[in-house]
Order: sequence, then C-alpha cells, then structure tokens
Amino acid sequence: MGIIYHQNSQELHLFNNQLSYIIKVQSNGELTNLYYGKRIHDKEDFSYLQPGDTRPLTVYQTKDSPHHSLQHVRREYPDYGRGDFRTPAYVIRQENGSRVTAFSYESHEIYRGKKPLEGLPATYTRNEEDADTLEICLRDPVTEAVILLSYTVFCSLPVITRHVQIMNQGTQKLVLERALSASIDLPDSEYEMVYLTGAWARERHIRVRKPDHGISSIGSMRGASSAEYNPFFALKRPSANEDSGEVYGFCFIYSGNHLEQVEVDTEQSSRISIGIHPDTFEWPLNPQETFVTPEAVFVYTDQGLNAMSQTFHRLFKEHLMQSSWTDRERPVLINNWEATEMDFTEQKILEIAGTAKELGIELIVLDDGWFGGREDDTTGLGDWFVTNFDKLPDGIEGLSDKITALGLQFGLWFEPEMVNPGTKLYREHPDWILCPAERTPSPSRNQYVLDFSRKDVVDYIYGLMERVLSQAHISYVKWDMNRYITECYSIGTAADSQGKTFHKYILGVYSLYEKLTRRFPDILFESCASGGARFDPGILYYAPQAWTSDDTDAIERIKIQYGTSLVYPVSSMGAHVSEVPNLQTGRSTPLKTRADVAMFGAFGYELDITAMSREEKDAVREQIAFVKEHRRLLQHGTFYRLKSPFQENASAWMMVSPNRKEAIVGYYNLLGTPNCRFDRLYLRGLNPDNAYHINSSAETYYGDELMHAGIPIPHTGVCESNVDFSSFIFYLSVV
Ligand code: GLA
Repeated sequence: MGIIYHQNSQELHLFNNQLSYIIKVQSNGELTNLYYGKRIHDKEDFSYLQPGDTRPLTVYQTKDSPHHSLQHVRREYPDYGRGDFRTPAYVIRQENGSRVTAFSYESHEIYRGKKPLEGLPATYTRNEEDADTLEICLRDPVTEAVILLSYTVFCSLPVITRHVQIMNQGTQKLVLERALSASIDLPDSEYEMVYLTGAWARERHIRVRKPDHGISSIGSMRGASSAEYNPFFALKRPSANEDSGEVYGFCFIYSGNHLEQVEVDTEQSSRISIGIHPDTFEWPLNPQETFVTPEAVFVYTDQGLNAMSQTFHRLFKEHLMQSSWTDRERPVLINNWEATEMDFTEQKILEIAGTAKELGIELIVLDDGWFGGREDDTTGLGDWFVTNFDKLPDGIEGLSDKITALGLQFGLWFEPEMVNPGTKLYREHPDWILCPAERTPSPSRNQYVLDFSRKDVVDYIYGLMERVLSQAHISYVKWDMNRYITECYSIGTAADSQGKTFHKYILGVYSLYEKLTRRFPDILFESCASGGARFDPGILYYAPQAWTSDDTDAIERIKIQYGTSLVYPVSSMGAHVSEVPNLQTGRSTPLKTRADVAMFGAFGYELDITAMSREEKDAVREQIAFVKEHRRLLQHGTFYRLKSPFQENASAWMMVSPNRKEAIVGYYNLLGTPNCRFDRLYLRGLNPDNAYHINSSAETYYGDELMHAGIPIPHTGVCESNVDFSSFIFYLSVV
C-alpha cells in the first residue's frame, strides 16, 4: 500500500519508489504539506519540517499559538480570508455575503484503486493494484459544507493525481466563486518555470522563465484550453536538463478555461495553483448539491525533462486515454483539405483514393465541405447531412461504399459545436447559440458557438452525427472546433447560473464525445481546433490523437512536435506530409524532410497525390513502407528529445523500443551553416551492452559508444550535409 497513516503524529505519507508526499493534520484540524519530492524513508513524525516562529505583522490562528500563522505554513487546500494572504484554492460566498470559511479535518479514508470522476475525463486504474487513493474529508462548522480532497498515488509511475469535491450539506445556498483542483506550497523558489505557449500555426513552443516575487501564471479564458497556453507547466531546478535534475511537472485534465499559477511570496516559498479559471466561473451550490473539480496531475522526477515527459506519455497511454485505438498502430491516412479545400467532387476524391491505394495509404479522410450548403466557410455548419448532390451524387453512404470497395478505410470531418447563419439549424433554433438575446454575437470564421451547456442542443447534434456514422462505413472522425467562445451566455438559464456556462459547455462537449465513442468504439477519433488549439489531456481521454497544428511546414513542425512532446505522446500527434511551397509559411522543404518529421506522429499525407511525379510517388511509396514496417516503434516506443530547435540550429529526437533492441533517430538541420563543425549526436535510452547496426550497416556500435561518444552526423562535402532543411533517419537494430 503506497499510503501510510501515522495516528500519533497525524501524518499521511503517500509514496512509491520514486516520490514521497507528506501531509500533516495540525492539532487545530488544518491540513499542511510537509514534503513533496524524491522518495524518503517513512517514519512516524516529520513535524520538524513545519515552519513555526513568531514574526511581527503576522496573523495567528489563536491567541495561544503565536507561532502558527497561515501565512507561513505550507497548505494543502488554502482558504480565503484568515491570514494566509496568498492565492486561495477556493472561495465560497454565503447567503450573508461572507466569504470566510474555516474547514478542518474530520476524517480520511485510504483504499486501493481509484474512483471515476462523474462526467469528467480523468485517469483510471486498470486494476486495483495500479494505485492507492486517499480521501480527506474537511468540514466547515458554520456552513456545514464538506470538502473531500482526493489524492491518488500510482504505484509504478511517479505520479499523484488530485481533485476536489465540494458538497453543500447545510441548509443555505452557497456560491463557489473559485474551486481549483489542487494547490501545493513548495518550500523554496529556486526553479525555472517551463511552459508551452503559442498561437494558431505556432502552438506549444517551449518558454522558460524564472518565477520571482509575485505571480507567474498562464491560462485560458477563451472557452478552450487554447493554442495560446497549454494546461501544463513544469518547475525545474536551474541545473536540470533533459537527462538529469529535479523536475516537478503539472498538468490539468481539462479542455476549457484553465489557470496554472506559481506564486512566490517574499519569503521565497512557491504556491502552485491549478484549476478552472476563476475569472470565468461561478457555481451556485444548493443544499445537497456537490461540485466536482477536474483532475490535476503532479509528476516528480530527479531524472530531467525527458523522464517527466516519458511519465506523462505512459500515464496518458496506460491510465487516461480510453479509446480502443490507444495502443494500436495508426493507419496511414490522406486528408483532402490542403489538396482541394472545399472545392472537390466525388470524382476528385475517388481519384485521390485510387492513387492513395496504389501508394499504400490505408485511410482517406474527407475534410470540410461535404454537408449542407457548405461551399465556403460562411455557411453549412450545423447541417450534418448532404444537400449538394452535384458534389456527392450518392451522399456520404455512396461515397463510403466506393471507397471501401477500393480497399481503403473512410474518415469524415465534423465541427459539432458550431453553427453558421443561413443553415436549417440556425433558422429553426436561433436561440441555441451562446449569446444574450439582446446582444449581437461576435462572429469568428463566420460562425457562432452552439450552447453545449444545454442537453437538448447536444442531443440534437448527437442525433445528426449518429445517423451519418451509422449509415456509412466510417472508420475515423476528425472533430474540429474553429473558434473561441465569446458572449458566453446561455439563453433560458437562470441569471444566477450564468457563471456555470463555460464549464457546463465543456461538460456538454465531453458528454457528446462519451456518447459517440461508446456508440462507435471502433472509430478512431482525432480532435482538432484550428489545428492544435484544444490539444489537452481532457480531449485525449476521448480522442487518442489530435491534429497538432494547421502549420504543416516541416521546419515549423519540428518546433511544434518537439514542444508538444513535453507532455503528449508521439502517437497522439497527427502529423502529415504536405505540399511545397508550404501553404502557411511559403517555405519549400525536401519531401524526405517532410516525411522524416511527420513519421514521428500519427502519420499521413495532406496534398494532391494525384499531381505527383513518378519519382515523388516512388519516394512516397518507400516512406509509407518504412513507416508501416516501423510504426509500432515510431508511435509507441519511448521518446527522447536530443537536440532542441529552440536552442540550436539543428534538432533531433529518437524512439527506443521497450526491449531496447531497436531505435529510430530523426536528425534535422534547420538552417545550414557553411564549413560547420563535424557534429556528433549523443543518443539516449540504449542498452550500453548491445551492439547495434545502423541503417543495416555491417559494422556494429555498442550502446554506450552511441550514447557517450555519439554518432557523427554525416558529411559528404564541406557543408553538403548541412544544407537548409535536410534530415537523416538512423534505424538502429540488434540482430
Ligand atoms: C481547421 C482545421 C483544418 C481543416 C479546416 C477545415 O482549420 O484545422 O485542418 O480541417 O479547419 O475548415
């Protein structure tokens, strides 16, 4: 059991062989954190770790405990208004307008395994031995509200997950103004904050900054987890790098508005707060109602950022994603979007499909433009049925028959949460969009957001989608979401419940995903939000892969996939070879480089393959054969970042098989440097004693040699190997 309760000291020690997390119940019932970090021996009493000292200008809890100030202790779930003065984890407004609460320990329970979070994506255990859970019950005697703090410690991963339930067991109506999922105070601030930031076509670039006195925060109030700030950050020791050093990683299993924050106080302790963004949230809690927060994930390692990422990857693949596709090899696909956009005919799609089959592609995806009056992006969204029979004479059903007859699988694009004016849906239900009736909704890409906080709206969209998916042969769905939420107001909902709308919207999205994935368990769902604007752990629970970015330029993609890999597994990153000059950047890169980048992902093509030359088709055929031969390793191996495109003029990464007998390395030159040094690449994760062949060379190289002496990056001339945008793939194998 990874949780021990020491009755005399009132301490709870959560641990596995890599981490320890120690909570103390103070004599007054306050919960404090004594330690979170590398595994230490268990013992009865760690109370010496509790800071206690009389200081001027502090507020004490009682007259006879002048050394016990909430301002100085490290708290587990801090309240508001009683002398802490740092960011609270929750604020509860009462009927008399007071926001002061004083919850104290009542009881706790320890059990094997983990319970699901009703209506929310969350980590799960496959069997009880995978994890242990601690639930601590706190009660406020005045409101009679109860807070249940849940902590799950996974046995074979350095992971603790946390979430909170707030229950109104009293008689007055309460209002949650803030209900974060987790808070923890670390005793110092010698960290760098690593996080992922960006914009459309530039998602999840890595940034590093030093949190100093005051607040460093990231988050989203856009209604989606967003391209701007991913719900993840890490605190690493300044000396920590990819391969060594202490790193605390945090992520939030949620797809809506979120906040991740580090507050360094003037005594240099660091408070971490993670949860639903409180600025767009207010939740009335009537007597007998319970609010459940989404789940936050804590990862601890002293083995650097690669180990943190590998932990997230394993956690997500083994204990978060629930799709039957999670651990499967993903089909090589072709998507028609960049080839035709909405300007296609059935004939053109069948031509692409025919060529795709010849080249070895397994799945063709029909993207935007197949439904309603959709000829451009001004109309059609919401009418999820074919009305233009000039374009698709036999509808989706007929097209899917023809495609499956070719021996290909068929996939289809939807954007379920949106509506365009001019559609049947909008004409019949103008009040189904988010916006107060007396205001004009702000358009974005000519579309409005459907009110998914309403069950009738979600049910209607489910009905339309269920029909298409059950009538045609569909193996894959791309679920897009192409705008952020404004005028977030739900018509027909009471005034005092409008603060629930953003969160209820996301619960509506989750409920539709849940219904569709249950009804169609074999369909591979890929999420998308103008590329990667909703690439988060919440969506991965339902859809095991996401379109990483609309930016398909290979060089930009190196940065995006590199940054994404900090948290998300390679199998979750949709990555396609597209045409040159690239539509987003105008850059031309070799076909080989485009494939060498995309093969570290859920691989596919997104260009007009019918217009390719014979040589190009031959090259594509070879690329596909290579990916098919190695995709178990490429998609489900252990991933290591080797060289950062954010720091160097080249980038590299590699995948290692579980038995360490095989590995694939990708090396990419960004810009060429004339007469550059003879570079060596130091590999990771190999068995030092194994002798590896490289690209079927007769000569072998020991793992230790490759990791410590490195492999020379090939040079065929003064600077030929170093030309702009060139790439190398090294396949290592032990025969
Ligand atoms: C978004 C997606 C693209 C494509 C278009 C279609 O931008 O990210 O891949 O599906 O929508 O409108």
